Amino acid sequence: MYKCAIILAAGKGKRMKSTLPKVLHKVCGKEMVNHVIDTMRASDLSDINIVIGNGSDDVKESTKFTDVTYSFQDKQLGTGHAIMCAKEFLKHKKGIVAIFNGDVPLMREDTVRRLINTHQDNGYQCTVATSILEDPTGYGRIIRKDGLVDRIVEHKDCNKEQLNTKEINAGIYCFDIESLVKGLDKLTNNNAQGEYYLTDIVEILKDNGKTVGAMVVDYEETMGVNSRVDLAEVEKILRNRINKIHLDNGVTFINPENTYIGSDVQIGRDTIIYPNNTIEGTTVIKENCIIHSNCRIKDSTIESGVSVDNSVILESTVGENTTVGPFAYIRPETTIGKHARIGDFVEIKKSIIGDNTKVSHLTYIGDAEVGENCNFGCGTVVVNYDGKGKYKTRIGNNAFVGCNSNLVSPVEIDDNTYIAAGSTITDHVTKGSLAIARARQKNIEGWVNKKGMKK
Ligand code: UD1
Ligand code: CA
Repeated sequence: MYKCAIILAAGKGKRMKSTLPKVLHKVCGKEMVNHVIDTMRASDLSDINIVIGNGSDDVKESTKFTDVTYSFQDKQLGTGHAIMCAKEFLKHKKGIVAIFNGDVPLMREDTVRRLINTHQDNGYQCTVATSILEDPTGYGRIIRKDGLVDRIVEHKDCNKEQLNTKEINAGIYCFDIESLVKGLDKLTNNNAQGEYYLTDIVEILKDNGKTVGAMVVDYEETMGVNSRVDLAEVEKILRNRINKIHLDNGVTFINPENTYIGSDVQIGRDTIIYPNNTIEGTTVIKENCIIHSNCRIKDSTIESGVSVDNSVILESTVGENTTVGPFAYIRPETTIGKHARIGDFVEIKKSIIGDNTKVSHLTYIGDAEVGENCNFGCGTVVVNYDGKGKYKTRIGNNAFVGCNSNLVSPVEIDDNTYIAAGSTITDHVTKGSLAIARARQKNIEGWVNKKGMKK
């Protein structure tokens, strides 16, 4: 049967007290709306429409690589009104539409599949994901009759008895498309909030002799985010879930509670992650690495056997058995070879560093290509910027750069060369030579006495 999906993401999220639209708040490094999109895709829902309104340009920008379509809700008149705004998307479609509130990011793909199967197998026209809560405050309540769903009553519209109902609407549904579209015409905003509630469709369907079922799901999957407190709680649940996957795969976390791994990160076996690390985006860490405390690694590839300590690595690649840090800063578009060493207070930007090359301390390398087996003395600076433009420096294999040297770009340093400490290199250093570019030392005999400066 044909299946499509709609995500409701037009609301402002007043209770977040934020200028950012609610669905763009991140959970484990990824926007809530993108979590929802990923879950839908993973459960074979490929035709996805997002209802946008508040901050619509930002929501579009954040979802632009996800191959979704958009409907626009000019004024946020409620979740039912949001679906009315997606009528064009539903037009001429027959089959099932899964509808997700954009602020429910923890639902698992298996559960979505189960919801769709429950819907199909029972021939319901609508199936609602629900949870049982000790404290259901704020959620719409599920009013059941003969096991089926009779209607959903929003918290603010509940009478005393309904307030005691512990089964809540998770904001995730399957609908028969045609029944939904017909029902939309009958929605009114005659309720406590003066809004068109999607949840009122349930009663409308039922009054037309259709059946609405429910599927109870663990609250750890259905928790909605309305405030920063909710956001922090959801973050914790997802963090535990992600960390458990890595632990089960053979990764050691010294303290999982204090280890922050993004949902798309991959980590190989026998890698050890110390506390207080943030590993984000599309980062891949291979096997047998040690990530000591206080690192931030984003969108990078760390090959096997690498050790990183107290360092930042962004959009870069680090080769096998290389060590990084403590206190190194690897900036985007850097590729570091195997068995290399990037030591303390070293910054590398948009550069290639060859295998076995050592940059042990207090050095800046920017816009450079460095060969294999080179050694950078303490305090080397690649002077890649003249105030206007950036220039490239190329260094061959087996170069030895003495301490406190400046390499003024653009400059070429050939294979098997030495640069004397304290040199400011502005010209080509030819193969096999020693370059000295500094004033010769001169001792002025008796100077101290003559100046009367003797102590
Ligand atoms: C909604 C449900 C409630 C359920 C809860 C689950 C309704 C009427 N109520 O309440 O039964 O228990 O979710 O979390 O549906 N949105 C729009 N346009 C609008 C209004 C909302 O796109 O005009 C979007 C929001 O961006 C959000 C989602 O719909 O992603 C839910 O809106 P929200 O205001 O958070 O609904 P709740 O009050 O939580
Ligand atoms: Ca909500």
